[in-house]
Amino acid sequence: MAAMNQKKMVEKLNDIIALDYDAVGAYEAAIQRMDVEFLRMKLREFQQDHERHIRELSQTVQQLGGKPREKPGAKGFILKGFTAVTAMMGNEAALQAMRGNELLTNRTYRSALEEEWSDDIRTLLERNYRDEKRHLTFIEESLRNRVWEQAAHP
Ligand SMILES: [Fe+2]
Repeated sequence: MAAMNQKKMVEKLNDIIALDYDAVGAYEAAIQRMDVEFLRMKLREFQQDHERHIRELSQTVQQLGGKPREKPGAKGFILKGFTAVTAMMGNEAALQAMRGNELLTNRTYRSALEEEWSDDIRTLLERNYRDEKRHLTFIEESLRNRVWEQAAHP
């Protein structure tokens, strides 16, 4: 596998940064639509993971001599799950939308890890990927167990 040049690495990292920005926005939309406090807190924590990814990946882009992305992806594709629904959308629909978004972040990190990176960057990407797997697992378990119903009817 050929090593990527710096320009290619910067492009790839900036694509991931754009996705992490999208995820921060999507989590904000999801949190606003949920009324179960512990779920809101958990999603806030995941949102903060994505904010940390943005900070650390942006530093890496700078170290490579590039200019880090400062905005969400132009397509805003990750927010699609929210634009089609009304403000009535509740806990389950918000979790389902975030499941779709987290499947995408998981795919993106997994495919980025197929490239050749320096050890430092690989370590960072692997740590972020572990966060993404944890986010997806929590969301899928919450959907499977319908945790918002237990919260509403203790
Ligand atoms: Fe995530």
